[in-house]
This record gives sequence, structure tokens and C-alpha cells, in this order.
Amino acid sequence: MKHITIFDTTLRDGEQSPGASLFPHEKIRVAKQLQKLGVDVIEPGFPASSPGDFAAVEEISRTVTGVEICGFARALRGDIDAALAATQSAQRRRLHLFISSSQIHLDFQLKKGREEVLGMARDMVSYARQFVDRIEFSPMDATRTGDEFLIEMVEAVIAAGATIINLPDTVGYALPDEYERLFRMVRTQARQGETVEYSAHCHNDLGLAVANSMAAIRGGATHIEATINGIGERAGNCSLEELTMAIATRGETLGVVTGIRREEIYATSRLVSRMMNFPIAYNKAIVGRNAFAHEAGIHQDGLLKNRSTYEIMDPEALGIPRSMIVLGKHSGRHALKKRVGEFGVALTDKQLDNLFISFKELADASKRVSDDQLISLVGDTIDVVIDPYSLKDIQVVTSNQMTRVASVTIVDNETGEASSYSGNGEGPVEAIIHCIKQAIPLDVVFVDLELHSIASGETANGEAAVMVSVDGVSYRGVGIDRDVIMAVSRAYMSACNQAVRAHRLLLQEGLPAAN
Ligand code: KIV
Ligand code: ZN
Repeated sequence: MKHITIFDTTLRDGEQSPGASLFPHEKIRVAKQLQKLGVDVIEPGFPASSPGDFAAVEEISRTVTGVEICGFARALRGDIDAALAATQSAQRRRLHLFISSSQIHLDFQLKKGREEVLGMARDMVSYARQFVDRIEFSPMDATRTGDEFLIEMVEAVIAAGATIINLPDTVGYALPDEYERLFRMVRTQARQGETVEYSAHCHNDLGLAVANSMAAIRGGATHIEATINGIGERAGNCSLEELTMAIATRGETLGVVTGIRREEIYATSRLVSRMMNFPIAYNKAIVGRNAFAHEAGIHQDGLLKNRSTYEIMDPEALGIPRSMIVLGKHSGRHALKKRVGEFGVALTDKQLDNLFISFKELADASKRVSDDQLISLVGDTIDVVIDPYSLKDIQVVTSNQMTRVASVTIVDNETGEASSYSGNGEGPVEAIIHCIKQAIPLDVVFVDLELHSIASGETANGEAAVMVSVDGVSYRGVGIDRDVIMAVSRAYMSACNQAVRAHRLLLQEGLPAAN
């Protein structure tokens, strides 16, 4: 099996997504996670573009080891000097130089003739090659450059010392067959074309970035440039998680492997989404919240019998907390029984019949049934309180002048005792969480919050999904309410209750609570 080099450009091309820019300390955090994920190359920024980017590339080169660092530069001496200086402490590095090659770019953007552009490419590659052994060169807009001039440029830069040729589909225009042909054509027809390595860099304007990257592999590319969550200019770049999971799932057929640690995929995706303020579409392959969620009764039934009936990947192997069953109006009795069983409740057939009737009524009225709604329905049906703790009362004072203050009353359902807690924070959510934390006898770490509006208009419900972690194990709670602060509080309480229940089960079984 051939190894495919995964070149991550989340911090360079990905950061070119509108609104996604990062502070240097945030870039360093993401780079460390990329290293954990197992990428081979990190392109951490564009050193000549700003002092902040220069500093981030410099710090990442110094501290992120075991990964090749790529310094990005236009074919200009000043850019190359900045990229050289910023990456000089890297254990392993390459420089990535680019200049446009398509006639459209030459005429309207560079306003230069072919000879002049060829001369710049040749001169700058040989300048950079004096300092660094690995030089990647990109003829920008390669897929809209005619074969003849593309070959001429590739031959010129190989002769000047380039060792990796990237053929970017800058505007996401290529079709898979064409892109595969382009690699094969350049590789076999350019003089010395077989002596260098090839890289693919695809944009997603037609939704073909992953398919085109796979086609490039068939055409002879051994490096793929990709970003986490597929972020990047316009419609984005090739999505790293989609590409690497396609290879992991169908690798036998493709004859290739990558070094990506799939258990880090979800954590990396969430980190990038959070830091770059970039929400992930619900139906995004691999990392979208619906990617492993099943609502249809027939699918749920099949899954409960055998996961492989409707899933080709195991979400838990990607670090995705499993909540494959989404309860809604299409769900059947089998799924309902299973979900209730996960809360440690065994129902008789009669109790299940009763629960199923009230569940369908609620599902019809509210589209989705969240865990806390289900638990309260179960409680009404069998007259037992399942959750260790219940929220009784929440008050929060917000103001634009001072810190937010909250007071929360929580009932311990085992003893029946109600206790009140107060806390403050920079926002109402932080203030409430400080209160709830005091009631929970575990060290709960707040990991993540997603907030969405269900339906539209002023009366829409807010849906909050909160992820917490206890001793390294993640728990996800969902809360739905007209009041978004209440939705977050319910979601947080539900996640904490799951953690407490899991902890108690482990103690009952005599197992150590931490993993
Ligand atoms: O899309 C593109 O062409 C690029 C290059 C400069 C590699 O990002
Ligand atoms: Zn690009």
C-alpha cells in the first residue's frame, strides 16, 4: 500500500475563509492538535502577510516537532526571505512557492507576459533552493492553464531545483477525469517529470474537491493538500476528514494509506470549528451532527440488530460520542426501548405501550425529543425519577454594565433535598454553570456548546447541545426551550446527570471511575 502524505493547510488556505482568521496563540493550539492527528505536513500561514502570521509560523516551527513545516511564499524574494526566516527552527521543512500560470491570471491579475512569469518562477526557485532542499512549486490556476505552457513552467522549475510539483485546481473547475489526466500528462510528458513528487490542491466550488483529490492519487499524486472541515477560500478546500476516511474505508480498492489517527478526527474538527467561529453543516460527511444519526424507524431497527446495516464507519473510532438514535416522530418502539434502556430503565410491555403513546404525541408536537424530555416522560410513565439531579429554579441577572449573577436551585433526587447555589460569570451561561457545578460531586470539564434555533420566527425554540468531560470520558446533553439560557442549562444538567449515572454504575460494578 502506498503512503499518501497529508499536507494540512487549515492554517493557511483554511484561514482565508471569510471570518476565520486566528490569533497566533490560537494557531499554535490548532497546530499542536494537527500534530496529534498525525498529519505529515503543516502549512501554518503566510509569513510575509503580517507580523502576527510570521510569529505564529516561527513559534510552530520551533515547538511542533515530528511534522514537516511548510513556509508559503509568492515567487518574490521578500516573501521567500520571510518564509525562510519564520521556518528556520523547524526540524524538517519545505518552502512552497507559487505564481499564476493561466492566461486569465496573467492578463488580468499579474499583467505580465509568459516569458516574464517563467523567468520569475525559475529565478525564485533557484534562489530558494540555495537554502532549503525541499521546494514545492505551484503554478496557480493550473487546471485552466493550457497543457503546453503548464509543461513549460513545470520543466523550468524542475530544472531550477523544485522537488514537489503541486497542480492546484485554484477555482474548483476541474472534473475528476480531467484532473487525473493532468497529473498523468505532466508526470509523463514534462522533461524530468518522473524525478519529482506530485501534490494535489483542490477547491470545492463544484463540490468535487475530495473526488478530484482521489482522482489525483490515481494520476500519480502522493501528497494531498487538505483542510479540517474543508474550510478555505469560497466553498473551501478538500476536506481532510472526508478524504482520509474515504481512504481508510476503501483503502484496499485504492491501494493507499495515510498516517491519520482517526480517533483524533472529531476533536480536531470541533477545535477548528470553535476557534475559527465556523459552524459545521448538520449533514457534513464524517463530522456533521447528523453524519451518524438515524431517525427513520426502519433504519433504527436495522442498526439495533447490526450496526453495519446502515453504517459504513464506526463513529466511536473517530472519537464521536455515539448518539446514533435520534428520537423523533419516525422512531419506532424498538429504538425507544433501547434509548430508555441506556438510562438504566427496564420497562414492562405495558409501560412501553403507554410511553410510546405519549412519546409519539410529544414527537408530533416538537419534532425532536431530547433526552431530558424523554426522561421526564419515562418518569411520568413509571412514576420514578431517573436523573440524579433536577433543576428546580433558575434566576439570572444580566446587564451590559456588570458581571452576570445567577442563582440555581437543584434537587438531589435520591434524598429529595433542594439546595440553592449562586455564581457569576462574564455571561449568563458561565454564571449558571458555576452554580450547577457546585451541586455535582464530579470534576466536570465544560468542553463544547452548540446552539441552534429550531424553526424560525420570534417564538422558535432554541436547541442547545453541550459536551462535558469527566476523567477523559465525554458526555453530551441536549436541551430544548424557548429560552436559550434554559436550553443550555438543561443540556448541561443532562450531560452532568449522564456522567453521574455512569460514575455510579462503575462504582456499583467495582470498577475504577477514571479511564
Ligand atoms: O488555490 C491555490 O491555487 C492555492 C495555491 C497558491 C497553492 O492556494
Ligand atoms: Zn488554495
